[in-house]
Amino acid sequence: MAKIGIAGASGYTGLELLRLLVNHPEAEIGFLTSETYPGESISKVFPSLSGFIDTKLSSIKSVSSNICDILFLALPHTTSMEKVPYFLKGHTKVIDLSADYRLKDPAIFKKWYSLPHKQTAILKEAVYGLPEIHREKIKSARLVANPGCYPTSITLALAPIVTEKWVDLSSIIIDSKSGISGAGRKGSLATQFSEVNEGISAYNIAAHRHTPEIEQELSALAKTNVQVSFSPHLVPITRGMLSTVYINLKHNLSTVKLVEHFKNFYKGEPFIRILPLGEYANSHFTVSSNFCDIGVQVDERNQRAIITSAIDNLIKGASGQAIQNMNLMLGISETTGLNFPGIFP
Ligand SMILES: NC(=O)c1ccc[n+]([C@@H]2O[C@H](COP(=O)([O-])OP(=O)(O)OC[C@H]3O[C@@H](n4cnc5c(N)ncnc54)[C@H](OP(=O)(O)O)[C@@H]3O)[C@@H](O)[C@H]2O)c1
Repeated sequence: MAKIGIAGASGYTGLELLRLLVNHPEAEIGFLTSETYPGESISKVFPSLSGFIDTKLSSIKSVSSNICDILFLALPHTTSMEKVPYFLKGHTKVIDLSADYRLKDPAIFKKWYSLPHKQTAILKEAVYGLPEIHREKIKSARLVANPGCYPTSITLALAPIVTEKWVDLSSIIIDSKSGISGAGRKGSLATQFSEVNEGISAYNIAAHRHTPEIEQELSALAKTNVQVSFSPHLVPITRGMLSTVYINLKHNLSTVKLVEHFKNFYKGEPFIRILPLGEYANSHFTVSSNFCDIGVQVDERNQRAIITSAIDNLIKGASGQAIQNMNLMLGISETTGLNFPGIFP
């Protein structure tokens, strides 16, 4: 049984980790942190956990470094950066849900996050936690940088074809839509009910911080520099994410062949479902699950592949994927505690 700590247990991804871990057969929750509710029981903060866990929250400052086997850091970016070295000193393995250890190049981190990376030595050993691409490295990692939600849905949609000579890598356009929980629990004007309800808005076009993460992973797969145009949108749903990705083909290909190609690429992957011919990803059917549904279509008139990809931003896009990584690091079945369908309606 692995001893688990969650820093940031009072946030959305922290709560989702708890919801999934309370029934995990190989995980025993040790400590939980919150700076707003120290001393409070977690089931008081989140009554949905009543009867399952009533561990008291403590400040992260009071937690000693060797207290657990696996530590999830569900903290805002820049906060994780300084916590990781302290916990890595002991035998603890760390899964960081923030963006702090995802970008390999500190200069790119500085450009997009407007501050220098302060832990460049540790950054070198961080493994990007997308199991479908980096499974073997994750198994022996001490530090896993859990991917962002947009990069998860987008990289999984493009991984099967950016390696192929028959696509034009300079033509990638990505349109993504996210539920509001993607912004975390801490409120802001932009995420207030009256600001988001009944409306759809684009934001951070060509400037979203997940862009370099997407480009890093696609470039590594393609073995050449890949740049994308990325347009994220907020939609008035609590959770769920849909990405529609466009890429030009160098010669025409049938949809049947492309679907077959995707099915072969993801053969045996427990959490990837390639949809049958003519079906497109729908966030309804991945919400509350760790699945990524991918729909494949060729627009033959325009010689373009159009890939749709749906995930739950809080599960495959964050806490479920983090548990998938934990399972790999513990050497147990990757699907442990995650093998359940989504909730619809
Ligand atoms: N939401 C998503 O869909 C999603 C998806 C992928 C990745 N992520 C990433 O996952 C991380 C957590 O996201 P979230 O949505 O769970 O955010 P959240 O709901 O805002 O929760 C943040 C947590 O961090 C704690 N915290 C805040 N400032 C802190 C500090 N200075 N020291 C220690 N603890 C602090 C908060 O607790 P107190 O306020 O009680 O201190 C809270 O528990 C972020 O880096 C986010 O980018 C989120």
